[in-house]
Amino acid sequence: MSDTLTGLDIRPLSDSLGAEIRGVDLSQPLDDATAAAIRDAWHEHIVLLFRDQDLSEDDQVAFAEKFGTVGTRSRPASRRPEGADYNASIMLVSNIKKDGEYIGSLPDGEMWFHHDMCYDPAPHKGTFLYAMELPSSGGNTLFANMYAAYDRLSDETKARLKGLTALQIYDFATREVVDISGDIAQYKHCVQPVTVTHPVTGRRALYVNPLITARIEDMPDDESRALLDELFGFTDDKSLVYEHEWRLGDVLMWDNWCSCHARTDFPASDRRMLRRCTIKGQPLHE
Ligand code: SIN
Repeated sequence: MSDTLTGLDIRPLSDSLGAEIRGVDLSQPLDDATAAAIRDAWHEHIVLLFRDQDLSEDDQVAFAEKFGTVGTRSRPASRRPEGADYNASIMLVSNIKKDGEYIGSLPDGEMWFHHDMCYDPAPHKGTFLYAMELPSSGGNTLFANMYAAYDRLSDETKARLKGLTALQIYDFATREVVDISGDIAQYKHCVQPVTVTHPVTGRRALYVNPLITARIEDMPDDESRALLDELFGFTDDKSLVYEHEWRLGDVLMWDNWCSCHARTDFPASDRRMLRRCTIKGQPLHE
């Protein structure tokens, strides 16, 4: 149904977050009014879906540029494929192999909930993912509304979180939380507030996740573990989550400051390829 304020056809995807926007061809230049309306819808719905798109790499980057400065990947140089065609703005999320090597990142299997790049002091604000090849089943992407994940906490827990920070750490080689009992210098990491105020909306969001958040700072290990387990309760609360079943040509854009996402398993024998770019962010504050 058309939103008479923005002129866009916006249809919510779930009660928690997400909206589909119809009638926009992202391969064409966006006028400023349409881009502004999409930006407003993004801040309201957190995740936006555009179906039936046909995008070149340049089209995708041009669309993302309407919302910020396109970011470069944080993958360490030692783990990048060789070759002159390496484009640091584009990441393929894919299990496809060429000459025995994966052509992309995050190839197979389930992924736990995470915020993209929360291990960076200025986490990228938005991620844009375009579906190019899909498995016969699974490989769905789940999104959790982290404003709602904060709101559902008891007043006592909210008060306890004030001023707390957490270690965010990521190992590009695995899909489990890093073992921090040893030397962590080799891994990308930083300390972030446990809750953040979204720089644009001014709303408070929970900013921890099971894949990348390893501990609450300045707290005994057992207390930190118990508190994180309580906070990670959002991952089991279906009322906070939208599960996206991909179709070819889908583009999703999501806000990393107030959502996190996960992936369901899929047959490793099936090909899956999505093209990703991001827009840069800024340091986040409580
Ligand atoms: C990601 O976590 O960025 C990848 C999501 C997906 O493969 O669906």
